[in-house]
Amino acid sequence: MTTVGIVGAGTMGAEIAHVAAVAGMQVLLADADAERAAQGRDRAVAIAARRVAKGRLEPAEADAAAGRITAVGGITDLAPADVVIEAVPEDLGLKTRVHAEIDRVVAPGTLVATNTSGLSVTALADATATPSRLVGLHFFNPASTMRLVEVIAGAATDEDTVSRAIDLAGALGKTPVRVRECPGFVVNRVLVRAMAEAYRAAAGAPVDRRAADQAVAEGGPAPMGPFALGDLVGLDVLESIRADLEAAYGDRFDDSGTLAPLVAQGRLGRKTGGGLVPDGDGSPTGTEPVVAAIYYAAAMDEARRLADEGVASPGDIDLAMRLGAGWEQGPLAAG
Ligand SMILES: NC(=O)c1ccc[n+]([C@@H]2O[C@H](COP(=O)([O-])OP(=O)(O)OC[C@H]3O[C@@H](n4cnc5c(N)ncnc54)[C@H](O)[C@@H]3O)[C@@H](O)[C@H]2O)c1
Repeated sequence: MTTVGIVGAGTMGAEIAHVAAVAGMQVLLADADAERAAQGRDRAVAIAARRVAKGRLEPAEADAAAGRITAVGGITDLAPADVVIEAVPEDLGLKTRVHAEIDRVVAPGTLVATNTSGLSVTALADATATPSRLVGLHFFNPASTMRLVEVIAGAATDEDTVSRAIDLAGALGKTPVRVRECPGFVVNRVLVRAMAEAYRAAAGAPVDRRAADQAVAEGGPAPMGPFALGDLVGLDVLESIRADLEAAYGDRFDDSGTLAPLVAQGRLGRKTGGGLVPDGDGSPTGTEPVVAAIYYAAAMDEARRLADEGVASPGDIDLAMRLGAGWEQGPLAAG
């Protein structure tokens, strides 16, 4: 039976622990200390209970899954793991230190994965003595329900590691999409490009954001518009990803200074209240369909660039947008 070690028992670590335990794997859950690991185990058990309440999981399956999750004292307890998935906060220095330690502790044949949203897998691998066995496994939140996993090979990742990561994603009940490493991978790169372009368009014209979101949801395959999506993701998280992508790709990720002032004021979207979408009903100005058209054109352009660069196949880009962003059909199929 596969034993999965997870480092970082926060939002994603608990979700991934739940997914692995339900898939019949033994899970060793580590955090900075034993108490936090135990809290992470409690979160994973609570995820199962919520799914039982919704009728998506049998009570007996939830009980069996809980019995397979063990909170441990730290990374040194992960030596027996066949696979280790790292899900500590998105900080290059921290992740580098954690990967160096994982690499020292686990056996030579252990597969090591990072759930980074956008840091370089190559840079993380370089911090270890065994860079060929590190792979990106980008789960989407909530991992218990989102089917997509982007599988990212860094420069040193070997083919056997990639195919083991793809098999693991399948064994976890997920749909893997293979991605050649680039900032933002596929889904975040397409979405954040389209969001930045929509924010830029709205900054230069009178636009009712609620009506613009409605125009996007009604006018194409996306389930929600860029303003509601920003508030859902959290504006601090989004601005950090957007700024990194602007640094990597340039002005097409410029948002005309839409997000930074809101972040500075602590208006981070749903988690704080206050964000991009104003309270109350606004009045459409007539320009909202233009914002929606810009949103979809930008998504399609970024998807084409990804395909042209060979980051993923056109079919996989569309699949990733359907399973990772909830689009009814992918931007390339729509075009
Ligand atoms: N939350 C999301 O929507 C989402 C989606 C996809 C990917 N990710 C990525 O997943 C990773 C984790 O994100 P999260 O939202 O779960 O973060 P989080 O803050 O909820 O959890 C991180 C956990 O790591 C622990 N931790 C910190 N330092 C540690 C150390 N030295 N050793 C062991 N554990 C340590 C923390 O105590 C915490 O429990 C990040 O790379 C993030 O970019 C997040």
